[in-house]
Amino acid sequence: MTSLEKKIINKPIENRSISMSTLANSKEVEYIQQNDEFDYLKSLIKSLDNGKSIGILLFGNPGTGKTLLSITLAKSLNSTYYFIDGSPDLDRRDLEGNWELRKGYTKFNYGPLTRAIKDANEKGICFIIINEINAIRESEQISLNSLLSENHINLISKGFERHELNQNAKLIIIGTMNKGVVGINKLQEAFGDRFLISPEITYPEKNKEIEIVKKVTDCKKGVAELVVDAAQQIRKQATEDFSISKLFSTRLAVNFCLLVSKMPPKYIEHNIQNCIVNKLAETIEEKKTIAMILDGKMFKEKLGRLLGASEDITKFIETAPSDEDKNNIIPKMKKAVETYIEIVGRDKIQNASGELMWKFLQWLWNRHRTVLREYFKLTEKMDYHREYKQKTGKDHIYGGLITLKYIKWIYQNKNYDIVIFMKRLYPIL
Ligand SMILES: Nc1ncnc2c1ncn2[C@@H]1O[C@H](COP(=O)(O)OP(=O)(O)OP(=O)(O)O)[C@@H](O)[C@H]1O
Ligand SMILES: [Mg+2]
Repeated sequence: MTSLEKKIINKPIENRSISMSTLANSKEVEYIQQNDEFDYLKSLIKSLDNGKSIGILLFGNPGTGKTLLSITLAKSLNSTYYFIDGSPDLDRRDLEGNWELRKGYTKFNYGPLTRAIKDANEKGICFIIINEINAIRESEQISLNSLLSENHINLISKGFERHELNQNAKLIIIGTMNKGVVGINKLQEAFGDRFLISPEITYPEKNKEIEIVKKVTDCKKGVAELVVDAAQQIRKQATEDFSISKLFSTRLAVNFCLLVSKMPPKYIEHNIQNCIVNKLAETIEEKKTIAMILDGKMFKEKLGRLLGASEDITKFIETAPSDEDKNNIIPKMKKAVETYIEIVGRDKIQNASGELMWKFLQWLWNRHRTVLREYFKLTEKMDYHREYKQKTGKDHIYGGLITLKYIKWIYQNKNYDIVIFMKRLYPIL
């Protein structure tokens, strides 16, 4: 919990992967505005007079960044914020405060609304962010109603103790909800009416969504482009012919890019299935529709290629080997590999996930050490030896020759790169 975040009433929301949100938020993600919606809201809050509550009702499809926008707004104004997850079980006392029975005496614990008023009065501003505000029962909205329209609340359970916003303070109450989404409660008219404005947050257009996903996850641009392209097409299909019932949200795109960028490429298939297909599809037909869209885009293959090669090697992919290398080291190494294939077998070079097997390199080290060393010297072009030195403190050369430790390090840390190196840059496989 950050120092600004004062209180969380946590109520798990159905169909929501709480842990995934944590994954994305662990890096202190900030909202990236699509147009000027963030600037607009900030300006509105700054422009209005003190002494009042300002109600903002953000609505839109799931995972469009409504909650993140609210938190980023509070942080940008150096404000503390109280965070409430709306739910039908939420009691008025959860919001205002309640009595706690202790050994021999009772104690009143002030709730987020009362504490927010106090914070605002002390510091000039405070935020109350209420997720899924439409899930709060009508009977429990009373204190929010009076806070929104009269800037005070009376605690019924504490002899109508009055808590009022003073003339130098602002209280920002942001409610977020998925208005327009099927199966969602409507907001009571009188309650909704007390909010000053109700901006809609939509899914971003393609380039903006790519920028968001790339920035938030720090993934490769190509990965963000591929994922957002698929997300937008699946989303389009969901809204046009309803052949898919759930929307591919920006949150989902972010979570997927985070997963595939952090995990070994051999788990791409699992991640596609678990993070995209199973989350979006309700039926077998929907699964098929999503799989068809992804297949049509060669999603898995393209992603595999993008993730298999690290940024350092893709830079060199277009550069051809020198004539000297072509006529000397490459044929020598090829010959050694052919012998390996004859004796050990072609299927003992790479494993099922495409990773180079240690057995292969060790065999070459034992039988064709000089050639292997010369061949591995070519990796200097990619500056791997500098990274090796930095991370291990060791030189890759000893007595003028490449060391086995360095080869092992490459095998362990640059396995996918070295496969591309062997297949495309200095082809021997
Ligand atoms: N404009 C954006 N800028 C940065 N990140 C974004 C943006 N839109 C979506 N995200 C990503 O999506 C995640 C989910 O956003 P958030 O929880 O704010 O959505 P929401 O609209 O509140 O969703 P819900 O309707 O389900 O409550 C964020 O943590 C972030 O990773
Ligand atoms: Mg939200």
